[in-house]
Amino acid sequence: MKASELRQKYLDFFASEGHKVIPSAPLVPENDPSVLFTTAGMHPLVPYLLGEKHPEGKRLTDIQKCLRTDDIDEVGDICHHTFFEMLGNWSLGDYFKTDALKWSFEFLTSPEYLNLPKEKLGVSVFEGDTDAPFDNESYDIWLSLGIDKDRITKLPKKDNWWGPVGNVGPCGPDSEMFIWTGTDTAPKTFDPENKQWVEIWNDVFMQYNKTAEGKFEKLSQQNVDTGMGMERALALTNGVDDDYQTELFLPIIKKIEKITNKKYEENLKEFRIIADHFKASTFLILDGVLPANKMQGYVLRRLLRRSMVKMHQLSGKIWNAESIMEIVETILTIYEGNYNINTEEDSKSVFAVVADELNRFAKTLDAGLKEINKIEKIDGKKAFDLYQTYGFPLEITEELFKLKGQNVDHAEFEKEFNAHKELSRTASAGMFKGGLTEQTEIATKYHTATHLLNAALRKVLGEGVQQKGSNITADRLRFDFSHKEKLTEEQIKEIENLVNKAIEDNLTVTSEIMDKQIALESGALGFFIDKYGDSVAVYTISDPSTPSGRSEPPFSREICGGPHVKQTGELGKFKIIKEESASAGIRRIYAVLG
Ligand code: SER
Repeated sequence: MKASELRQKYLDFFASEGHKVIPSAPLVPENDPSVLFTTAGMHPLVPYLLGEKHPEGKRLTDIQKCLRTDDIDEVGDICHHTFFEMLGNWSLGDYFKTDALKWSFEFLTSPEYLNLPKEKLGVSVFEGDTDAPFDNESYDIWLSLGIDKDRITKLPKKDNWWGPVGNVGPCGPDSEMFIWTGTDTAPKTFDPENKQWVEIWNDVFMQYNKTAEGKFEKLSQQNVDTGMGMERALALTNGVDDDYQTELFLPIIKKIEKITNKKYEENLKEFRIIADHFKASTFLILDGVLPANKMQGYVLRRLLRRSMVKMHQLSGKIWNAESIMEIVETILTIYEGNYNINTEEDSKSVFAVVADELNRFAKTLDAGLKEINKIEKIDGKKAFDLYQTYGFPLEITEELFKLKGQNVDHAEFEKEFNAHKELSRTASAGMFKGGLTEQTEIATKYHTATHLLNAALRKVLGEGVQQKGSNITADRLRFDFSHKEKLTEEQIKEIENLVNKAIEDNLTVTSEIMDKQIALESGALGFFIDKYGDSVAVYTISDPSTPSGRSEPPFSREICGGPHVKQTGELGKFKIIKEESASAGIRRIYAVLG
């Protein structure tokens, strides 16, 4: 089965069961600074799993681009990837275990869909603990679907529980499906320890919210979050056990063979890492990430530089521009037509970023590797020098010294790093400091403040002002908008005052779902108009004594996915800390809440 056929069959199947097909969210979460990347299909849907109304309804299906670096050390085997696609179906307080498991079973085994043999299926269910009981419902449902009891294994939380993303949020017990990949008949009993049983799908029953205190509270609604890794599903459906032998990777592997003059079979790990990292880098760049020394940019830099080190180790050569372009084009061609990818248009911009980064690193790569050979005993300071002088990300240095049986002292590295006043806010440097709840709450406040700012700008500078971009971190908001001149001090003051007045008035934030066209006609602003489906959520910020719909227009009305605070009084004091040019005809504002 082709990848395109698998994607289509999946979406069609769930559409026929009343699910709305929604597009993939970007790899960099739009309004959640607490995590670097979208790591699972459920991540962009967290507000809706917690009870917010989704504009497309209660049954959704999608193919979500995901990026995970937690398992980066596993990349190199047959089935781990940093970038992957996740096929998912969602119940937001609608159907629950019976339908979810029945549909998973049908899609996996029906000749019309994946046609995987029932005799090769094993499943696991949550065995229960003090936080949540044994999932006897799933157990019974699997029995009723014809799975033998020896093929149903009960497992603890570490295996059969999913979520939350970060420290707090929606989560729940799950039930996982495995396929026997051995050439012989599947054993009578399903044993998840046996690596020939390979996981294909995970149905999560999100009915708990994990609090900052570590408690599992029942959610107001019972949700289903399923996730099937596209790469794995494609391989298993085609009877291939190595994901890298499927059409999602094979052309890249072939290209690397051509460029390095080396054989995949003889260098499995290196080839897989290079192919994986290049693909992940391509998708990050398509989503606007640029190589940098912190946050997402640092991960991109690390992925690109690691592939280059591997490449160097493989063939002793540094890639030339032409070969880089060929790899980028190969990756884009694999995904042509998906995620709005247009190889012809995108290859040049992705190539420019990749080539620039690799050229930079090429200047110091050789010297850095020589330096590494010279170092007898690595320490934090030397690792920092390799980073600072030769551009070797810590993780790469670490990997190279692991081969010599040596570890890098992280604390010492960070001490040096801090001393150079460049503390990276990457995951390894305490991305979750302050706790996820706190960060999410702050992000929500900044999100609402962004709406107030957008409205205030239009009131002060005129209706011609159009939003051109926005970004939120735990420390500030950034807002780009069309406007030719630099703002005067008076204008800045006036904008601040308007926002602060809206905060003092403690306006109410309400949301309603409506038809996109009607929303636009009602004056709702919309930034990512094309990204939304036909029905949208509209957030109105207004004085409760003059609600929207009355003659008095609301302070702000925008199409948006949320989440937002309930009352603007929660925001605190708003202050613009910087106003500058972002590009021709576009100004940029940085603002904080105090
Ligand atoms: N959230 C679950 C996972 O990522 C199922 O989608 O495995």
